[in-house]
Amino acid sequence: MTPRLGMHTLTAGRGLLFGGDYNPEQWPESVWTEDVELMRAAGVNLVTVGVFSWARLEPEPGARDFGWLDRVLGLLGDAGIAVDLATPTASPPPWLGHRWPETLPVDESGHRLWYGARNQFCPSSPVYRERALALVADLADRYAGHPALALWHVGNEYGQICHCDDSAAAFRAWLQDRYGDLDGLNEAWGTTFWSQRYSDWAEVITPRRAPYLINPTQLLDFRRFSSDALLAHYRAERDLLRARTPDTPVTTNFMGLFKPIDYWSWAPEEDLVSNDHYPDPADPLAPARTALVHDLMRGLGGGRPWMLMEQATAAVNWRPHNLPKPSGQLRLESLQAVARGADGLCYFQWRASRFGAERFHAAMLPHAGPDTRLHADVRAHGAELRRLAPIAGTTVPARVALVHDWASWWALDERGQPSDRLDPTDQLLSYYRPLWERGVAVDVVPPSAELSAYALVVVPNLYLISDADAASLTAYVRAGGVLVVGPYSGVVDPRAHVRTGRFPAPLREVLGASGEEWRPVPEDRPVPCRWSDGTEFAARTWTELVRSDGAEPVAAFTEGEPAGHPAVLRHRSGRGVAWYVATLPEQDALAELTARALADAGVTGVLPDVPPGVEAVRRGPALFLLNHGDDAADVPIPHRAEDLLTGTTAEGRITLAPRAVAVLRPLDTP
Ligand code: GLA
Ligand code: GLA
Repeated sequence: MTPRLGMHTLTAGRGLLFGGDYNPEQWPESVWTEDVELMRAAGVNLVTVGVFSWARLEPEPGARDFGWLDRVLGLLGDAGIAVDLATPTASPPPWLGHRWPETLPVDESGHRLWYGARNQFCPSSPVYRERALALVADLADRYAGHPALALWHVGNEYGQICHCDDSAAAFRAWLQDRYGDLDGLNEAWGTTFWSQRYSDWAEVITPRRAPYLINPTQLLDFRRFSSDALLAHYRAERDLLRARTPDTPVTTNFMGLFKPIDYWSWAPEEDLVSNDHYPDPADPLAPARTALVHDLMRGLGGGRPWMLMEQATAAVNWRPHNLPKPSGQLRLESLQAVARGADGLCYFQWRASRFGAERFHAAMLPHAGPDTRLHADVRAHGAELRRLAPIAGTTVPARVALVHDWASWWALDERGQPSDRLDPTDQLLSYYRPLWERGVAVDVVPPSAELSAYALVVVPNLYLISDADAASLTAYVRAGGVLVVGPYSGVVDPRAHVRTGRFPAPLREVLGASGEEWRPVPEDRPVPCRWSDGTEFAARTWTELVRSDGAEPVAAFTEGEPAGHPAVLRHRSGRGVAWYVATLPEQDALAELTARALADAGVTGVLPDVPPGVEAVRRGPALFLLNHGDDAADVPIPHRAEDLLTGTTAEGRITLAPRAVAVLRPLDTP
């Protein structure tokens, strides 16, 4: 069911959105008129305004200066450019921290973080909350009904963590809510270990810096709390906005696979999902990594279109060595987001700053001005996005689900385990890559997702799993689904207590396999393995001593202690099939495994044969082909089609130059 508000509220009558962060407060008003003219010429139809304007709007405590913002919104509105108006609460003015130092965040060592940068607030500070909400309420009162107001952008890239006394008090309240009484807390945290028993709630603190390894459940609960504390603040702002402008959607910009925030719990609190994403031009895996993040955003929105709130036109300035984007990369990356469900393609930022920490960050309008090849590329891209209006609002159908969970990520991130080299997001990408390479569409889902509509469910790692989620995976297979489970899954329960018995305890029945030892291996000694047909592959980092309890061992370790023991198993269970992978196979072997699991599931990619480097995705009426490679690619296409980007007709095969994109809409319906 489509909710009342969403991307469709914005794209209706506008098509795909194109624009960026606009920070007019950094410029004299004479520049604003030029900005708006250039925006119109570039096809900009939405800009984000006011993200860092708290000090300008409230120059001293309680004062209000909205005049300049009235003029900015007036100019934009007159030009037909919609405004994504930000609540400016990500960066409080120096007066807040100076007068109320308790609003400043404290790190795990007890050190206060000061103003002079941004993001310096404690999510649980009552003073910060009160000041932020007062301004947000006035902002919303002022601009409710303004013709330019199209979207609310709450805060910016939430992610603050704080260990101050206010945070400790809020943490205790959160724990009381979760566990009821101290006995419940002591039991959950396993405080008989190392004499950690709490006898009074006042003793309970955030996991501040301690002499040695900190209680893992305390750490896990603090991560849960920190995500929830920020969410509580976001919600408070959102509720003020909703009460005043019930027809204006509300979002806050996510950061992809960002560890501190459980986006599964945040996304339902937004009217639309938006994300900031900056692929690293130096990362050869960036195209697949980016596709995974885009699919996560679509998943967070329940399959509905989402918005790329920030990307860079060229180089960022926050990596140590900032490679520019090769020519053609700007549009390739933006169109990749469209292919994967984005209906908004926006940038940080419109005009490059002259001063401040980000003055060397690329923008839509560089320091050198509009007479530049970069700005010409921006204009050309704005123009071509208009041709993709038929794509707005359409979906990306997927029969494969990839499971990602924040709590499990947090729990596995803790020290004191067999290895710190198992990274759930690395595993996610490793299992995603072969699907991406074959043009198989994937939905990223939480472990609690309804799975019955999927033919294949891939669980690269779920170190922490609840009984209910394990039961749901089991029921999914019994009912005919195909499941792939990666190593070190099902190890702990939601309290991070080890599930005893042969592992993975809650999944061993459905997997028809069980293990007794985790055995990390030296990085420089890959582990030889063999498929049952005799072909060999290598695995690395991690092995498990596993036996079959009914599953077919399809690959085995061939050397060392685990020699002869299964490395990969396949089990028919009920009407479905479950795979277990007891190591980290090299990428080609994962591709082979994926091919077999896809065959079990009867799933094929959008094309029989996708050349290396080419991404193939079907969205709505169109087949998107994106060449990420450095060589031209020759792609066989299934039907006579119109390329929406160029208006030309293609048939039989299409040749894509490096970084070229085709958006093919079938011409003859059979
Ligand atoms: C030390 C400590 C023990 C235990 C072991 C673990 O020897 O005295 O309490 O922590 O390390 O290796
Ligand atoms: C983030 C922020 C922006 C800006 C960009 C720079 O996405 O939201 O304010 O700092 O990074 O890349």
